[in-house]
Amino acid sequence: MGEAGKAAITSPVIDSDEARRAQEAADRSANLPPDKIDIDSMKITQHYEKYTPENHEVWGIIFAKRMEQLADYGSNIFLDGSKVINLQPDRVPDLREVNRRLNECTGWSSHGVPGYLPAKSFFAFLAQRQFPTTVTVRPKTQMDYLPEPDIIHDVFGHVPLHADPVFADFLQTYGKAALFTNSEFHTERLARLFWFTVEFGLIHEGGKTKLYGSGLISSEGEGHHALESPKVERRPFDLERVCDTSFEIDHYQPILYVLESFEQLRDAMVTYAERVLDEVGRLDELAAIKG
Ligand SMILES: [Fe+2]
Repeated sequence: MGEAGKAAITSPVIDSDEARRAQEAADRSANLPPDKIDIDSMKITQHYEKYTPENHEVWGIIFAKRMEQLADYGSNIFLDGSKVINLQPDRVPDLREVNRRLNECTGWSSHGVPGYLPAKSFFAFLAQRQFPTTVTVRPKTQMDYLPEPDIIHDVFGHVPLHADPVFADFLQTYGKAALFTNSEFHTERLARLFWFTVEFGLIHEGGKTKLYGSGLISSEGEGHHALESPKVERRPFDLERVCDTSFEIDHYQPILYVLESFEQLRDAMVTYAERVLDEVGRLDELAAIKG
């Protein structure tokens, strides 16, 4: 999940002074009301020329391995989106190039951040059609599993979906609801919704069950387990039921939810966001979403 994980601010692709300032701004933002959160203060530069040959190699190895499964079992919006943003098999993506392409189709963009963001700050990015991403690459010694996100989880796993207009609107709507609610009840339910869709979602497409959640797209073990393990209960998506289902983070997921379409997800989210935002007098926020 983009908002979790600890900063790796010693990586050469990160300017450590800039990262320290951005992390301090992120930490301070935890106490601010939603309208006062300044997402620009948390952004850092991706010093693209400083990626090492090992960084590009690790990206390439994981890209090739994951695409073997995803060519047949990645959702269409992942596969189409990865072409739209021009993900390459042999090099780490350059966010400037990704953003030029994303901007044209949905107005989304991705921005480097130093590491952990408070939840409300993460949601403030989404509410403005922006995605905070880690820019570091996992070491070669931890290719199979890394507890914190890196650019492979964040950009390979999440960002292709932002090129799809329906998913793009869903995610912004989600961000607005999660940012403006002041209810613990809704906050917990929205965290579950994120987990079972954006992170670990499945979808029926062309008579097959396919992967779209970032945790499944970017993880070899989790991706195969989600589709093949007899121990996984694959439930039809129902927003209320999803929001009532608690999750566990430290092992393969025993319960997953399967969409019939992304319109189903967007429409359910709009209905829920209307309820959440109406409670805090911010229903006008939904009118600003392109749709
Ligand atoms: Fe994630």
